[in-house]
Amino acid sequence: MAPPEDLRWPTYRPTGITLEAAADEHPNGSLYVRAEDGRRYLDAVTGIGCAVLGHGHPAWAKAVADQAARLASASGTYATAPRRALERALVERTAVPDARVFFANSGTEATEAAVKLALRATGRSIVVAFDGAFHGRTLGALGLTASPAYRAPYLRCMDEPPDDRFAEVKVLHLPFGDEAALTRAFETHGDRIAMVVVEPVQGEAGIRPASPSFLIRARELTRRAGALLGTDEVQCGFGRTGHWSAWTAIVGDRADPPDVTWLAKALGGGFPIGACLARADLAAAMTPGSHGSTFGGNPLACAAALATIEIIEREGLLASAGAQFDTLRAIAAEHPIEAVREIRGAGAMIGIDVGERGAAIGAAMRARGVLVTVCHRTTVRLLLPYRAGRDELATIWRALGDGLADADG
Ligand SMILES: Cc1ncc(COP(=O)(O)O)c(C=O)c1O
Repeated sequence: MAPPEDLRWPTYRPTGITLEAAADEHPNGSLYVRAEDGRRYLDAVTGIGCAVLGHGHPAWAKAVADQAARLASASGTYATAPRRALERALVERTAVPDARVFFANSGTEATEAAVKLALRATGRSIVVAFDGAFHGRTLGALGLTASPAYRAPYLRCMDEPPDDRFAEVKVLHLPFGDEAALTRAFETHGDRIAMVVVEPVQGEAGIRPASPSFLIRARELTRRAGALLGTDEVQCGFGRTGHWSAWTAIVGDRADPPDVTWLAKALGGGFPIGACLARADLAAAMTPGSHGSTFGGNPLACAAALATIEIIEREGLLASAGAQFDTLRAIAAEHPIEAVREIRGAGAMIGIDVGERGAAIGAAMRARGVLVTVCHRTTVRLLLPYRAGRDELATIWRALGDGLADADG
C-alpha cells in the first residue's frame, strides 16, 4: 500500500494547499505567496504572525545566508557577535528597564523561561493567567493557556484545584479585563502570587486588546504585593501594534513598565526564535544550569532577528503596521458588510467577528486568493506583513464580503 501523502501526525486540519515560494520578487518582500499549483495568495497568516517582512525579502535572506556561510551554531557558553548585538537591540527596544535576555526557539519556551524566573525570583508559587489567554503548548505554558480544548487531557498537574486544595494552586485563571476579580485575588492570596501573566492584546482569543486601566491596575497590584508583572508579547509584540512594545502602545508612560516580557513569532521575520527579557535584578535569580536551550541564541536565528529589526526601522514599518487597523475600519465604514459584528485590534493585529459564519469563511476566502486564520469559529484574524496597506486590506475586505455572501447564499 502506498504511504499517504501527508506523513505528519494529524494535529492540523489540512487546507490542501502546498505553499512553495514568494509569489513576487519585491525589493521589500512579497505580500503574496505562490502555491505548488501556481495559484497566488495574499498572505494574512504569515505562519501565524511570523513573516512580518513578507516572503523572500532580499536583505533578510542575504543576512541569513551570510551568517550560514560563517557560523551555524554555538552553545550558550560561547558568545557570538550576532547574539551580543541582538541582546543589545532587544534591551533597547522592549519596555522592561535594564533587562537581561534569555533566548529560546519559540513562544512557548519563552513562556517557560518567564515562569521559571518568576518562581525563582519571588520564591512564590501562584501564577495568575486570564480567560482567553494563549501562552503555549508545552506542559508548563499550557497551564497558563485557557482553552480547555488545548489543555485537556494533559494538565492534571497544572490544573486549578477546588478551593479546599487551594494551598496547592499553581495557576489561578481569572476573567480577562476584570479589575475587581484581580483585586480580590490579591486581597486573598497576594503574598503567594509570583507573577501575573497577561497578553496586552490577546491573540488566539480573537484579537482582544486589554484596556489601559486593566493593565495599569495589574501593575499597581503586582507592585504593591511584591509580585511580578509579565507581558506575553509573543503575538502582539515586536512592532505588531505599531510600537516595539504592545505594553507601550496601550499604557504608554501612565504606569511603570512590566518586570518581564517575552517575544517570538515576528522576532525572527520567519526564522524560529523566542526571547524572554527580565529586569537585571530578577534575572540574577537564574544561576548556571538553572535553565538552558541547545538552540537558544543560535547565530542564524540572531542574524535573522537583527536583519528584521534593521529592515523594520529602515523601511518605516512600525508606522505602516500601526496604520492597518484604522485603515481597515475606514474601508469597513465606506463599504459596510452586514454580517460583520465587530472589528477589534491594534495596528497589524486585526480580528473581524462574523459570528458563527466563521467556520466556513476561511475556506471561502482561500478560494478567493486570501489566506487567513479563524479563531473560535467566529473571528477572521489578520496578521499581515507590516508593509501591507490599503490595497491589501481592500482586497481582504472584498474577499470577506464575497465569501460571506456565498456562505449565506
Ligand atoms: C501570546 C502567545 N504566547 C505564546 C505562544 C506560543 O508560541 P509558539 O507557538 O511559538 O510556541 C503563542 C502562539 O500562538 C501566542 O500567541
